[in-house]
Amino acid sequence: MKNKLSNAIFTVCCFLSVSTALAVEPISPIQPVKNINLAQVELGKKLFFDPRLSLSGHISCNSCHNLSLGGVDNMQFSIGHNWQKGGINTPTVLNSSMNLAQFWNGRAADLKEQAEAPIVNPIEMASNHVLAIKVLETIPGYVIEFRQVFGSAEITIDRVTSAIAEFEKILITPNSRFDQWLLGDPSAINDYELAGYLTFKTSGCVACHNGPGVGGQSFQRLGIKDVYETDHPAQGKADVTGKVSDINVFKVPLLRNIELTFPYFHDGEVETLEEAVDTMARVQRGVTFTRQENARVVAFLKTLTGEQPSFNIPTLPPSGPDTPLPEPFL
Ligand code: HEC
Ligand code: HEC
Repeated sequence: MKNKLSNAIFTVCCFLSVSTALAVEPISPIQPVKNINLAQVELGKKLFFDPRLSLSGHISCNSCHNLSLGGVDNMQFSIGHNWQKGGINTPTVLNSSMNLAQFWNGRAADLKEQAEAPIVNPIEMASNHVLAIKVLETIPGYVIEFRQVFGSAEITIDRVTSAIAEFEKILITPNSRFDQWLLGDPSAINDYELAGYLTFKTSGCVACHNGPGVGGQSFQRLGIKDVYETDHPAQGKADVTGKVSDINVFKVPLLRNIELTFPYFHDGEVETLEEAVDTMARVQRGVTFTRQENARVVAFLKTLTGEQPSFNIPTLPPSGPDTPLPEPFL
């Protein structure tokens, strides 16, 4: 009886939300990118895939942000230089232009600023900016391309990170089934998934997970209603500001393509979407989802998987006679 009643309520709600979808929904469809410098995108794509930006010649941005795996590597902690494990779960680069800042604690203002860090991070690519530039300057194909793209052959970190950031801007995933529904196709998601969306809304998840990225719009405390148990040392924004009030305040992650980007949370402790949803309900909202509620929210979240970026794998220009040799680790 209760089920029948709630089904009836859902039917009414779904009818209402379809007819007014664009006007009132807290989540908006992913829009096409505008004002893109296509020449920089092509160069940035090469740099994103080029392992020669790492000391070992082995690690590229794509090693950890694998574009065939939703922009992550599905590991709790990524493997970097010398088999070192990263200290925090790798977020996706997909739709990362929709974040109000970059990194879990927001310490980089934008994609360009972010891109400087991994090249020199000793546990990631372990190079330095002088070496990385020297590598690029001795690869004749890059010298030609930097000249074409920027008007002069000068290769600087500023230009490298501009191109990478421009490429990352095209890594959006539009046209998910949920976006098709938002745009007015009532058959794009089924009633069960729609019921999951309504639970997601009525449970208050949309207070933080909203906008085109379904997150990425604010910093929020992890563990508002109940403690999030973890041994992980990250303190979120407090690590940047030193403020006690910022302890455990993290950037709200994007939930786009969330079924692809396991494991979950900054400590990568949670393997399944089911457990992540239950944890969020408990620690952020102080509610315990029934199995049915959990299952339909998970079903809704899976409708957020969009069209993955698709392009030809770039052919990288060959090294020249003076290109510093890679220093592989054993
Ligand atoms: C060894 C693995 C590794 C490599 C290589 C790597 N990253 Fe990351 N990336 C990470 C980790 C881990 C984080 C999260 C760090 C944090 O928040 O403190 C991250 C964060 C990011 C973010 C922020 C996303 C967000 O939601 O905040 C972007 C964008 C990004 N990386 C792009 C790049 C680019 C571009 C490159 C190549 C120049 C690169 N990464 C190389 C592991 C890696
Ligand atoms: C008060 C803000 C807030 C609310 C409300 C909230 N979340 Fe979150 N959510 C966050 C933050 C912050 C994180 C990142 C926590 C971390 O790992 O440090 C997160 C992480 C997640 C993740 C894991 C994402 C990833 O990439 O690892 C999922 C899934 C998620 N939330 C779903 C939900 C669901 C479902 C609800 C409603 C029951 C909800 N959230 C309510 C702020 C919120």
